Amino acid sequence: MSHLFAPFTLREVTLRNRIGVSPMCQYSAENGLANDWHLVHLGSRAVGGAGLVIIEATAVEARGRISPHDLGIWDDMHIEPLARIARFMEAHGAVPGIQIAHAGRKASTHRPWSPVSGPVAEAEGGWPVVGPSPIPFRDDYPVPHALTEAEIAEVRAAFVAAARRALAAGFRWLELHGAHGYLLHSFCSPLSNTRSDGYGGSFDNRVRFMLETAEAVRAVWPENLPLTVRLSCTDWIEGGWTLEETVELARRLRDVGVDLIDCSSGGISPHANVPTGAGYQTPFAETVRREAGIPTAAVGLITEPMQADQIVRNGHADLVLIGRESLRDPYWPVRAAITLHGNADALVPPQYRRAYEHLAR
Ligand SMILES: Cc1cc2nc3c(=O)[nH]c(=O)nc-3n(C[C@H](O)[C@H](O)[C@H](O)COP(=O)(O)O)c2cc1C
Repeated sequence: MSHLFAPFTLREVTLRNRIGVSPMCQYSAENGLANDWHLVHLGSRAVGGAGLVIIEATAVEARGRISPHDLGIWDDMHIEPLARIARFMEAHGAVPGIQIAHAGRKASTHRPWSPVSGPVAEAEGGWPVVGPSPIPFRDDYPVPHALTEAEIAEVRAAFVAAARRALAAGFRWLELHGAHGYLLHSFCSPLSNTRSDGYGGSFDNRVRFMLETAEAVRAVWPENLPLTVRLSCTDWIEGGWTLEETVELARRLRDVGVDLIDCSSGGISPHANVPTGAGYQTPFAETVRREAGIPTAAVGLITEPMQADQIVRNGHADLVLIGRESLRDPYWPVRAAITLHGNADALVPPQYRRAYEHLAR
């Protein structure tokens, strides 16, 4: 039986344990460039013992940023600052991962701690947003330009170019952001996609952009490295994207060479009623894993070592991603190892060992 501290291998990449740091936007970049904040933030979580650290939604096009302060990977200038972080994470035992993303109709917004919320006006440095159909995310959001088929091909190519840059930067784990109402998800959901061409209408058409993108990225992402996709497993709203559709999409993603589904939910509509609670999305990871026959990551209000361990032991997911709890405590994996096994020696850097001597059982 597997457990939280058992290594996990996908393709030729082995994580030292089943704990990943979930991708979390820091809204702290200028021109998409990673800086010292990102190095210290992500580096601390690698030192903290996670097997995998996934860098935040990193935009494949400038107009695909959620805010003007997002990380980007649309230009070669972004490679070296990201490579510095990947090298540091690798040197401290964490597999460096990155989530590549396009925010679609939810792009060009103020960062959360800005005094104003919602869209950034074009006069203040915002930009026009794009999506599957001219349906805004919210009444006060701009109407997105509906991408033409030629423009869809350009965005797909931007994902491919981003994957090449991620490889050049030394990342060994690539996640496509296919969740939270952003561009790829917004093509899947009938709530945001009312197209009548080959990219809308039927299930096959709505998932076409996601599948084509995954396939095109897989073609340039090395055979020995894992490619994963984060999906919103349900829109939590009547008439929206469903878990059954997620399972079918997961099968098709598996068939084009995707190795793991990171099971999240929501984000397509501000009107969704999301019943959050401890481990509330874990049943999605379990269902997708069982019914689509693909490894999964569970995420969402996983905060306790026993809870995380049980998810892996019960076969509900192969990997547990820790989000906000890892912002509160970068050393969560060390704490979990002590709680579960009475000892975290293997995870504690020598510089910090004296701090843990008295805790070892
Ligand atoms: C500050 C913050 C930034 C986030 N940024 C991203 C992101 O860049 N990409 C993503 O897929 N999810 C993002 N999320 C969602 C988290 O990755 C995670 O799925 C969510 O917080 C639920 O997990 P938790 O309960 O452990 O925090 C973000 C969440 C927070 C709190």
